[in-house]
Amino acid sequence: MKQKILFVCLGNICRSPAADGIMQHLVRKAGAEGRIGVDSAGTYAGHTGELPDHRMRAAAARRGYNLTHRARQIREKDFYDFDRIVVMDDYNYESVHRLAPSRELANKIYRMRDFFTTFAERWSHVPDPYYEGAEGFELVLDMLEEGCRNLLKEML
Ligand code: 4NP
Repeated sequence: MKQKILFVCLGNICRSPAADGIMQHLVRKAGAEGRIGVDSAGTYAGHTGELPDHRMRAAAARRGYNLTHRARQIREKDFYDFDRIVVMDDYNYESVHRLAPSRELANKIYRMRDFFTTFAERWSHVPDPYYEGAEGFELVLDMLEEGCRNLLKEML
């Protein structure tokens, strides 16, 4: 059966669509498209329908990721449709946890930092790059590449 991962951040225009694009790239490279499905969503609906932020799209494109996701808000149904819901920070965790239909389904929520190795020492979350400079986007991509690689290893 296909394992499905949903990445979640606040706006679904910076961190989670980048994680989505990176994971899809890694899954394709591993030849695991038939076994692993990937999507992303935001806790906030204000960017619904939008492509990822142009700064994130540019930074991701320089690393070979083409981000084409259209933003959407997470909904209760996602707890039934996905096996793992991976959030970027504690604020996302609280919002997603509140939405969980049951305690059992809330066990599907993970934090991206659970999959950090080298970043684990200094970071307990993936910082929101929205109000940051260009370095913020590069740092987020570095973190997401590490987290996604480790998460995929665990799932294969
Ligand atoms: P994201 O970044 O959660 O990584 O997509 C943000 C995007 C938009 C906003 C906040 C964070 N916003 O407040 O509009």
